[in-house]
Amino acid sequence: MEPVLTKYIREPHSYALDFYLKKHQGYEGLRRALAMEPNALIDMVKASGLRGRGGAGFPTGMKWGFVDQKTDKPKYICCNADESEPGTFKDHVLMERNPHLLFEGCLIGCWAIRAKVAYIYIRGEFYHVQRIMEAELKKAYAEGYAGKNIMGSGWDCDIVIHRGAGAYEAGEETALIESLEGKRAQPRIKPPFPAVSGLYDCPTAVNNVETLCNLPPIVLNGAEWFAGLGPEKNGGPKLYCVSGHVQKPGVYEASMHVTLKDLIYGHAGGIRGGHQLKAVIPGGSSVPILLPDQLDIPASFDAVVNAGSMLGSAGIIVMDETTCMVWAAMNLMHFYKHESCGKCTPCREGGDWLYKILAKIERGDGELRDLDLLTSVANNIAGKTLCAFGDAEATPPLTTLKHFRAEYEAHIREGRCTVGADWRARGTVAAAH
Ligand SMILES: Cc1cc2nc3c(=O)[nH]c(=O)nc-3n(C[C@H](O)[C@H](O)[C@H](O)COP(=O)(O)O)c2cc1C
Ligand code: SF4
Repeated sequence: MEPVLTKYIREPHSYALDFYLKKHQGYEGLRRALAMEPNALIDMVKASGLRGRGGAGFPTGMKWGFVDQKTDKPKYICCNADESEPGTFKDHVLMERNPHLLFEGCLIGCWAIRAKVAYIYIRGEFYHVQRIMEAELKKAYAEGYAGKNIMGSGWDCDIVIHRGAGAYEAGEETALIESLEGKRAQPRIKPPFPAVSGLYDCPTAVNNVETLCNLPPIVLNGAEWFAGLGPEKNGGPKLYCVSGHVQKPGVYEASMHVTLKDLIYGHAGGIRGGHQLKAVIPGGSSVPILLPDQLDIPASFDAVVNAGSMLGSAGIIVMDETTCMVWAAMNLMHFYKHESCGKCTPCREGGDWLYKILAKIERGDGELRDLDLLTSVANNIAGKTLCAFGDAEATPPLTTLKHFRAEYEAHIREGRCTVGADWRARGTVAAAH
């Protein structure tokens, strides 16, 4: 498939307004959208089958259809640019190299749900990206593509870029809204969902960066074109972030017909240095592991679920045979225990305990009964918390125990790691801890 979203990102000035206008038919999708009734636009997005690229794969048109239009309150688009899931680095590429595509997508979204402001909530660490976006947004305002009377249509709509403070949990949609309101980034109880009561208690659609970037091409080329690019209900172009032990880690754009195997061995050049593939986490760190014999499947939302995992944020983390799975689980738990927002007891306390038990096993002090304890603590977090973070943090210990229990038992039996990881041999284990 010819890239759609990232076609020109390697060209030096791909971020600039002039470039966007010339090469991408810039803002032509918005012009056409403004000639449509908002409801017709929502129907078009529904017909395209566009599914959210932020993690859950929820249909975007359906989400917009839930935005309460009976109230007189303002409506908002909140673009989720918090991108903090480990192994995920696609949204920042779009924002850095093709920011006008996102601005145009935000404006099309606003027109569809009758909003007059879109907030782009950008991850705190993306300071350099924010500077590019702000400079380009200024140009878009100056040339009449944002702000008052957009392209002479009489319609006003603002885009506001708001930088977070670098918290993973601020990517959860209601925590993001809290943070935008100036409060601590902790999730709200749902329902009510943001579509009914979101930002400032007003109807709000929270959409991922990549999701919104798909809107201009949908309006330009039609719903059928978009749906036809991928398998049924998995249409459109998709960005994949391939990282870990591959020859060429990077962001690759493909149709969701592409298999996980093609992404790893084709696009990313296969496993580095003649090593063997051991395990793959296909959707950012929060989803279950797939084994090498499970990769000959389309990298689509539905096929990955059928294989027992999730496509999530399409962060494909590849591990070769030198990876100690006890260490990998401990490493991920270090992240989760640090990032818990602390609102629910099972997540706040349980995450810390999972890390402590994993660290005990990893350093060679584990006992066999720790494996039951690990399972029990993880199962008392999953499904028992306010937001999906709880399920995510229970996953690394549960999925590694399921597939690599023998490795845990070997650590306990021998009091050391039995995987011949070369970074351990080089004595860099302290840095890894
Ligand atoms: C802990 C946690 C972190 C999340 N982080 C992000 C994120 O960084 N970016 C994102 O788009 N969605 C993230 N999500 C998903 C959002 O809650 C929400 O579903 C998404 O922004 C909706 O956009 P979409 O429908 O376009 O996918 C996160 C969810 C959870 C539970
Ligand atoms: S599950 Fe964790 S991150 Fe989510 S609200 Fe509860 S404490 Fe916060």
